[in-house]
Amino acid sequence: MKVALTGASGFLGPRLVQGLLEAGHQVHILGRNPERALARLPGGVTGAAFQAGERLAPEALAGAWAVIHLAGEPLNQRWNAEAKHRIRDSRVLGTRAVVEAMKAAGTVERFVSASAVGYYGGSHEATPLTEESPGGRDFLAGVCQGWEEEALRARESGIRTAVARLGVVLHPEGGALHTMLPAFRMGAGGRVGSGKQYVSWIHREDAVAALRFLLEDPSLEGPFNITAPEPVTNAEFAHALGAALGRPSVVHVPGFVLKAALGEMSMVALEGQRVLPRRLTEAGFTFRFPRLEEALRALLA
Ligand SMILES: NC(=O)c1ccc[n+]([C@@H]2O[C@H](COP(=O)([O-])OP(=O)(O)OC[C@H]3O[C@@H](n4cnc5c(N)ncnc54)[C@H](OP(=O)(O)O)[C@@H]3O)[C@@H](O)[C@H]2O)c1
Repeated sequence: MKVALTGASGFLGPRLVQGLLEAGHQVHILGRNPERALARLPGGVTGAAFQAGERLAPEALAGAWAVIHLAGEPLNQRWNAEAKHRIRDSRVLGTRAVVEAMKAAGTVERFVSASAVGYYGGSHEATPLTEESPGGRDFLAGVCQGWEEEALRARESGIRTAVARLGVVLHPEGGALHTMLPAFRMGAGGRVGSGKQYVSWIHREDAVAALRFLLEDPSLEGPFNITAPEPVTNAEFAHALGAALGRPSVVHVPGFVLKAALGEMSMVALEGQRVLPRRLTEAGFTFRFPRLEEALRALLA
């Protein structure tokens, strides 16, 4: 089946493309620089231009059975007013453009759109959150809520839509682990802020497998938390990462230091949410890496 994919050039995209090809799908990527992205992907993948905020021509989705939408401005930058606009618009307006093109194309039956556990808002609470828990009120929660609202509009045209509320995806090639590794490798890592904030993590292999699980089972609609079943506190995460590397992990970074260095974006590290993958588990998804220690051992081997 033909699957169109945005965000194919990112951290999750190439692994997902590989998985889709292995499953026998035909992959068509949509991105700001498709030629550059295609050069890093296996042969046989096709591509077309897509710029969030601009109209996406329905022809770009010609013959597509499904669309997976991952594109979005990275969060790891200073959140000045312009960056916040890019973070929000790339997701809300980008998703709107994808949904309008899918509705006009008329062939798409299945839509899987990324979102994030930031939907629930950042806090220091230990209350477990499931897909039924209410949304938060901070900047990222608002972005995720706007993003999901646009994605779920695809259902108006009978397109079965699943929203993937991704947790902190772990792999040394990118994302949070890539950022943390240099300090932890030097023995200069440790908890940040109170260390009590929860990290709802997931191994990249499980995240990619879960996206494919949502794609292939048409009965799965609506929001799904894409996180491992055992979230840990930031202090526990720091301890496990130090242990996996055989390095001490007792250097504490106080919250005010991180805030001074990163500004508002520091909330991504200083706050968290304890998210459980209730709907994914109920649907029968099997995690290859349900426990952090094993996930880190595999990732850092
Ligand atoms: N990685 C995580 O831990 C994590 C956690 C929660 C949620 N998510 C969400 O899951 C999605 C995929 O994650 P990822 O880590 O693979 O993302 P990523 O590597 O940061 O970026 C994915 C792609 O988005 C496109 N993009 C970047 N800035 C854009 C902009 N201003 N306008 C339009 N497109 C833009 C780029 O594709 P092109 O250059 O090809 O257009 C990029 O390769 C993202 O939306 C992310 O927010 C990720």
